[in-house]
Amino acid sequence: MSKMKKIFSVVSSLTVLLTLGACSSDAESSESGEASDESKGTVGIAMPTQSAERWIADGNNMVEQLEEKGYETILQYGEDDVQNQVSQIENMITRGIDYLVIASIDGSALTNVLEMADAEDIDVIAYDRLMMNSDYVDYYVTFDNFGVGVLGGEYIEEELNLAEGDGPFNIEMFGGSPDDNNAVINYDGYMSVFQEYIDNGQLVIPSGQTEFNQIATLRWDAATAQERMDNLLSAQYTDKVLDAVYSPYDPISLSIIASLKGIGYGSDDKPLPVITGQDATTPSVKSVIAGEQDSTIFKDTRLLGNSTVMVIEALENGEEPEVDDTETYDNGNIIVPTILQEPVIVDQSNYQEILIDSGYYSEEDLK
Ligand code: BGC
Repeated sequence: MSKMKKIFSVVSSLTVLLTLGACSSDAESSESGEASDESKGTVGIAMPTQSAERWIADGNNMVEQLEEKGYETILQYGEDDVQNQVSQIENMITRGIDYLVIASIDGSALTNVLEMADAEDIDVIAYDRLMMNSDYVDYYVTFDNFGVGVLGGEYIEEELNLAEGDGPFNIEMFGGSPDDNNAVINYDGYMSVFQEYIDNGQLVIPSGQTEFNQIATLRWDAATAQERMDNLLSAQYTDKVLDAVYSPYDPISLSIIASLKGIGYGSDDKPLPVITGQDATTPSVKSVIAGEQDSTIFKDTRLLGNSTVMVIEALENGEEPEVDDTETYDNGNIIVPTILQEPVIVDQSNYQEILIDSGYYSEEDLK
């Protein structure tokens, strides 16, 4: 943060303290009341939805860490309504904030509001999802999303013994939301594993749907995915068996399982296909334990929160935050300096160690 920006920030943060005092009844905000250190700024946190466990954990975790360090916080959820998120961010800017942490709903819909943030000298951090087509994204804190796709793809490769030459197997793939850059990177990751097996015939896709736009799921919506699975099963699988499904998100995995069970999969003579997931949500980890969903990807939101707080603390102290990557994350306008965390694949063999022994979930959470 430049000196000028810093001075501006301190002044604006004092203004915010006064303003926030008058706004404490806002039901959608989580505000810390009194800051323990008045010299620290206010952080606006815009999250996409409370309908998914992970975003609730992300939001709460950041608020807790930031407030402990003496920041004010405003946490709001856009509930997957793009215009709602735009208004929430505008509102935060008007109220006066110093830092903006955004997990976008539609990564390309925030160009105007980010310009507004820049005009107010607010530092903008893209959280997990990259905001596209804007010069005004200062840092990006995320998991290796290509790696997420590779991990899920390699899980299927291993379960089906593809490297040893087994096959052919029938597989269908699902993608995440087309307005979320992560969904595209995730697709590139698993296709980098599957492509050679599709080309040599070990993997067969009876629906023929292999392009991202054919398999994408708007807003990662589980009901939309279930409808697509129902259609695929009735159109392609009356006389074929489905061996594997790449699912990019746990709630989608569970809806795929529901659809499959509806036509008799999940019995001894017709086992469920290999099914992946993402986020290690409790319903899906329970499904993994029960032997239905096969794997999920654990993204430790505590680490993402730590990285975000690290960036804010560095900026607050007038220092350059340490980043891992200054080449890869091109948002169409600029390459955004990025801090990366590693995703971990979880299945029956390691959920105890990765999720319970690490303190992320208790035994009780997974009962
Ligand atoms: C995140 C995933 C999440 C998905 C749906 C993506 O941007 O990277 O972790 O499962 O959104 O909420």
